[in-house]
Amino acid sequence: MWARRAPVHIARRLISARQLGTAAAATATAAATNANAKAKAPLPVCGQPLPHTHPHLFPIDFARGTDASAGGGVAHDHITPGIPASEYEARRRALMDSLPSGSVAVLMGGRIKYMSRNIFYRFRQESNFWYLTGLQDPDCMLVLEKNSSARGYRMLLFVPPRDTHNEAWDGPICGIDGATAVFGADEAYANDPAIMLHHLQLILSSSSHIYVDLPSQPTVPRQAVRGTRFSIRDFLAPPTPTGMDLFVRKSDFDTVQRLLGDPRNTRSLVHELDRMRIKKSENELKVMRHAGAISGAAMAETMRYAADGMLESEAQAAFEFGCARRGAERQAYVPVFASGRNALMIHYVRNDAVIPKGSVLSVDAGCEFAGYASDITRTFPTAADGRFSSAQRDLYEALLATLKGCTRLATASQGYSLAQLHRRSVEMLSAELRRLGFSLRSGTLERVLYPHYIGHWLGIDLHDTSTVERSRRLEPGMVITVEPGLYVPDDDAFPAAFRGLGMRVEDDVAVGYDDNIVLSADAPKEVADIEAVCAGRI
Ligand code: GLY
Ligand code: MN
Ligand code: MN
Repeated sequence: MWARRAPVHIARRLISARQLGTAAAATATAAATNANAKAKAPLPVCGQPLPHTHPHLFPIDFARGTDASAGGGVAHDHITPGIPASEYEARRRALMDSLPSGSVAVLMGGRIKYMSRNIFYRFRQESNFWYLTGLQDPDCMLVLEKNSSARGYRMLLFVPPRDTHNEAWDGPICGIDGATAVFGADEAYANDPAIMLHHLQLILSSSSHIYVDLPSQPTVPRQAVRGTRFSIRDFLAPPTPTGMDLFVRKSDFDTVQRLLGDPRNTRSLVHELDRMRIKKSENELKVMRHAGAISGAAMAETMRYAADGMLESEAQAAFEFGCARRGAERQAYVPVFASGRNALMIHYVRNDAVIPKGSVLSVDAGCEFAGYASDITRTFPTAADGRFSSAQRDLYEALLATLKGCTRLATASQGYSLAQLHRRSVEMLSAELRRLGFSLRSGTLERVLYPHYIGHWLGIDLHDTSTVERSRRLEPGMVITVEPGLYVPDDDAFPAAFRGLGMRVEDDVAVGYDDNIVLSADAPKEVADIEAVCAGRI
């Protein structure tokens, strides 16, 4: 829904390491190889869900579940729910095949972010690292070196090594053994700065093309929050936010800056990875369909639950409960629960008002399931009889007609781009509003009443693959949102009946060649269905 195009972050972060002198010795003791891992039988316990420790989270078919007596089963070959190890392998292979010979790709995983001192936010993996590995632990690094082996590349993972004390507090991690045995690394090492730098220097010195994908956001230096003494120096060294605060020594920082931070020698992987991520595989579409089904069912429950006089946040709690109890691990973004005039603010997320009598509630919310986002908006009445007022219904139907009109056009065979779809949405809304008695001056619709875009790419990230141009034609496998909105200010330029109303309706659409699939179809959107659900009749 966001009106402004976000700047494309080509994240280049600088890392540094401790003494190189210890590297060789540490390497010898801390490494595991895939050959070793294959020789031993039981898979390690990694903490993150895997079929051998969390079979209930790995159904072969999301609709059937894992209970064999009910026709379900466990997908033992999956690394994350819905995605087999072979698909992660194919993604890495496709990436390396797309790069020239002599290429190496270095991807940093995510770091834990902090709310304050040592109070952490729940960890979420960096999207590209996740896309290529499925590994959920923080503080990791992936190095892929193109070569002439049958695999086409050598895969190195640097991960936090197992630590009895830490694991007693924080639970198990994948460790060096898991990195090879489960996540397919040819070689795995501790994420010790000295070890990492040692390998980077070796590999990069023999590579002719260096591609990097480094964290997109800085974190508070962990050393600062862990140490017994706190110093402003911890925040100032390295001198810019690096996102790689494992390494805070100035000398290491300089070394890594030279290796990975110099744009004359390195290129960002963002375009290659966005080009891959924009088209979803069959498995990804199944996961996204399930994310949409979870959010859709939670939205229907929220419609039933929300009522005049309730805090907006209580309706939010109903939605989040509906997602969590169906297995979603988090919300894909900070949700909007906007009643009354709050719905005029497109990014309203305070959700702390009492829902006024006669209001509609605009809900823009979606869960993340197995690493993929859903993104749904519905606007519905909160009165006990579940009925829209006539002005509310008229405006809502204008939006619904536009949503359906644009969704019908969102197929590959019709040749539309997101940008062209947006132009059509403006034309459709303009016609609908004129029918309702709006007299629109040129530009008023896009400047005032509908100031955001028709949609965006959707996937692992809510606003996915941001370097893919909106002018690109839709292709089978792409997933977009379609989300027309109308926000009528208190201004006598507009018909009195509609002033103060803000509404949006949003679906997630998987594009096919001649047709498409609405992934969010379980969230009611026809007026009759919404009114029946809101009144508790269905
Ligand atoms: N919920 C954010 C968006 O629709 O883009
Ligand atoms: Mn959206
Ligand atoms: Mn949305």
